[in-house]
Amino acid sequence: MEQVIEGNALVENKLCKCSIGIEDGKIAQIKKILHGKKHFNYQENLILPAAIDVHVHFRDPGMTRKEDFYTGTKAAAHGGVSCILDMPNTNPPTINQDFLDKKIRITEKKACVDYGIYAGITKDNIKHIPRLSKKCKAFKIYLPKTQQVSFSSTLLPQAITAVEKTKKILAIHAEDDTCLQEHTKKAPDLYSYAFIRPPKCEKVALTKIIKSLKNHQGRIHICHLSSRQALQAIPKSSPNISIGVTPHHLFLNYCSHFKVPGYGKVNPPLREQKDCDALFQAMKTGAIDLVESDHAPHTKSEKNSFPDAPPGIPGVETTLPLFLWLVKKDHLPLQRMVEVLSKKPGELFNINKGDIKVGHDADLVITDFKEEKIKHLHQKCGWSPYQGKKAIFPHTVFVRGTKVIDEKEFVGEKGMGKRIT
Ligand code: NCD
Ligand code: ZN
Repeated sequence: MEQVIEGNALVENKLCKCSIGIEDGKIAQIKKILHGKKHFNYQENLILPAAIDVHVHFRDPGMTRKEDFYTGTKAAAHGGVSCILDMPNTNPPTINQDFLDKKIRITEKKACVDYGIYAGITKDNIKHIPRLSKKCKAFKIYLPKTQQVSFSSTLLPQAITAVEKTKKILAIHAEDDTCLQEHTKKAPDLYSYAFIRPPKCEKVALTKIIKSLKNHQGRIHICHLSSRQALQAIPKSSPNISIGVTPHHLFLNYCSHFKVPGYGKVNPPLREQKDCDALFQAMKTGAIDLVESDHAPHTKSEKNSFPDAPPGIPGVETTLPLFLWLVKKDHLPLQRMVEVLSKKPGELFNINKGDIKVGHDADLVITDFKEEKIKHLHQKCGWSPYQGKKAIFPHTVFVRGTKVIDEKEFVGEKGMGKRIT
């Protein structure tokens, strides 16, 4: 073997002391004992598949004061994420071939972990979906009209039909615009913000999506579900719909304390604790398929005035560490954590990662399970709502067999991340 990594690994849903043999960046063999040119023995430390984050906003190009593709992917690596999917609301937005190529030229130079790119769907580019699908990993529809990349729900059937033919996944931000319009625009605080974008708007959007999906087999992913009402609006037997939830909708609510109130402003809004509990239960038991960070950083100064603050919470670096802590405290079985952070995102988005099995990319995280308080993070925005919270960071991270984090230090390389389609 070129390389062997030994430790207490999660293989076929069981922890076992074993050796993982790696050739050409892929897992080639898993055995009790293997010999390799390079050999790392992590003793009793846990070896898990690295996380896959299917929802981040790395702001490159156009808003690199908030984040860029280098800082974003480096932060991902520190948080044990070996693959991210980047959202299209950059400047210019990823909605045509030129802008997609422009983004690719940037990401190729800067990515430190693997990545895929979402193409945003607009009323004008539906006809270009087949061509865009050659270079993007998935498509995104944004139903609220507050962003330049938005889409009218009346056109959903056309978009679904077009994306279905590409066999790619269509991710949807499900808040209904007509419903949002019925409410006042400005909210002075987190509590009122939750009510100008009520759960009803999420539910209305979901009802429209489900109706548009009739007689279609295309795969739809509902991004960041935030409320009990929305959860109930999705029929139990919907094989072509997957559901994501964010750490902030699980761990934070509109009464949570934030150093700056604007840090808690996000779309969909933070709800009440009962919603967090219901979502957590659904995530634990399988009604929710995966966890995505919706890493949406903004600068501290932008977040200062609540009414004007742009919505968005950073999270790519803290998701796995917060979840490892939950596992340590017995709030979630280790196997389920790996399912929602690694396996399911890999399976649903057709990424050859997310599980320690032969043939998969050797994307691994290694942890000694020692908890610490979240202090210094590597994302550019310089703040996190989880500052001071307990978490467990991996000390070592491999991407396709290459170490990118070693003793919690970044040892990867700018530009080593590969684009997946
Ligand atoms: C997103 C962002 O900042 O890009 N923010 C967020 O709160 N999720 C965009 C958006 O969904 O409004
Ligand atoms: Zn988002």
